[in-house]
Amino acid sequence: MSNSINEQIDSRRTFAIISHPDAGKTTITEKLLYFGGAIRDAGTVKGRKTGKFATSDWMEIEKQRGISVTSSVMQFDYDDKRINILDTPGHEDFSEDTYRTLMAVDAAVMMVDVGRGIEPQTIKLFEVCKMRGIPIFTFINKMDREGKEPLDLMEELEEVLGIESYAMNWPIGMGRDFLGIYDRFNNRIEQVGAEGDDRLLALNEDGGLAEPHPMIDTPYYKQTLNDIELLNEAGNEFDEERVAKGDLTPVFFGSALTNFGVQTFLETFLKFAPPPQPRLTMEKVEVNPKSEEFSGFIFKIQANMNPKHRDRIAFVRIVSGVFERGMSITVPRISRVFKLTQTTQFLADDRETVDQAVAGDIIGIHDTGNYQIGDTVVGGKSSFIFDALPQFTPELFVRVSAKNVMKSKHFHKGILQLVQEGAIQYYRTLHTEDVLLGAVGQLQFEVFEHRMKNEYNVEVQMEYLGSKVARWIENEGDVQESMAGQRAMLVKDRFEKLVFLFENEFAMRWFHDKHPTIKLYDLL
Ligand code: G4P
Repeated sequence: MSNSINEQIDSRRTFAIISHPDAGKTTITEKLLYFGGAIRDAGTVKGRKTGKFATSDWMEIEKQRGISVTSSVMQFDYDDKRINILDTPGHEDFSEDTYRTLMAVDAAVMMVDVGRGIEPQTIKLFEVCKMRGIPIFTFINKMDREGKEPLDLMEELEEVLGIESYAMNWPIGMGRDFLGIYDRFNNRIEQVGAEGDDRLLALNEDGGLAEPHPMIDTPYYKQTLNDIELLNEAGNEFDEERVAKGDLTPVFFGSALTNFGVQTFLETFLKFAPPPQPRLTMEKVEVNPKSEEFSGFIFKIQANMNPKHRDRIAFVRIVSGVFERGMSITVPRISRVFKLTQTTQFLADDRETVDQAVAGDIIGIHDTGNYQIGDTVVGGKSSFIFDALPQFTPELFVRVSAKNVMKSKHFHKGILQLVQEGAIQYYRTLHTEDVLLGAVGQLQFEVFEHRMKNEYNVEVQMEYLGSKVARWIENEGDVQESMAGQRAMLVKDRFEKLVFLFENEFAMRWFHDKHPTIKLYDLL
């Protein structure tokens, strides 16, 4: 591999921002794009609530809802780094795509609202990142508002998420009295309300302000010095290796809206966020990003990005080597070769044609129905396959059928394809053979219904079964159908494996007490 390509690979930083809705993910993304010069005005990425900047017309359903359905990718340069941010939609837009996006990043930034602390969706996304062992950086946002005590938040991180933390900086006051941050990493104080170099105040050897400053007489400053002393004595030590493994999260405080602490965060984050990481094949062989041959895997397929065409775009995370437009790739699963002439790279909501991309980058390849989520793509002569993407435990279920029984052939074809694509999960009741669909987010059902109608010309009817606790069974042979009941449905997944769908956690515990020999497990 040439030096220049190696340098390009080293410069890549590919990450996702995870958070519960409203923690400020969009706001901080805008600020980051702004610093990277990718947008001129911090406030133009999307304005879902007002609909003012509803830029995406990828799918009819997006227009109807005024949201962006699936994760997009944003690329920009900062200093000597090329940054790829993968968006992870939440709330009503939450779906398996959100989880799968986390399979394609090398690091995650976790946004936490200072007033709300760790929220449910943050926990779910965090767990997926933790499972992958990627570094997680925490940004505690909205310091311009009153919120929880910083020490309590650090404790919450450790107790709720079970991750140790290291405060890279510490707030001085909050809300209307937010005076700035005490930057332990850069050894300075960054003050609110000052511009340019005046923002930064030097510290002396004792860790206090080196020069006289009105802040010194405030109770907030004194409190911060006390907290810092406590952190120095009793807190965790900063340990780069533990950060890299995801065992220790560096914590930053700031305010995305007022753009305070964001640039310092970005610069420090870039020092520790890893370059593109190797990936294992099914044979557990490591594929190095700098290995000569191009390889990647598909983590998402987006239908109908351009409403004029019915084509799809497959999102590829490049694992190794260089992609060049027009090159041929093999999909080892089907042993077929494709020439990639129509490819896309992403920047905010504009899609640009890409001529060259390297390990760490995300490209979109044009798909007429050949690819599946999880597919490996390789250049050259190799035919290895990367480790499979995990399947996630669905939480919501519907019973589905075609409105018109004459359409049942189309119905089954449509379901088969959408299931293969990873849009939705397929289950079947044991004797009646009813089709059930499982999802992690409500939006998946809406997308399913919409696509069945538009792509397969089938109107479906869906009966909502609500949320269920799905559990697979280690010792299937010991299961008897009589164990199932109203509060524990027994179904099969698409691989013919038995699954119990419990009404709730309580029903599951009750089942466990009654049948202690049945070993249940969940997916991620
Ligand atoms: P999300 O993508 O994580 O869902 O959150 P988003 O950035 O859309 O932010 C959610 C709300 O929180 C927005 O207000 C946003 O302006 C506000 N916000 C984000 N960062 C900060 C911050 O640092 N301080 C304060 N005080 N507010 C912040 P909204 O009124 O719900 O929406 P909008 O009408 O402003 O778009």
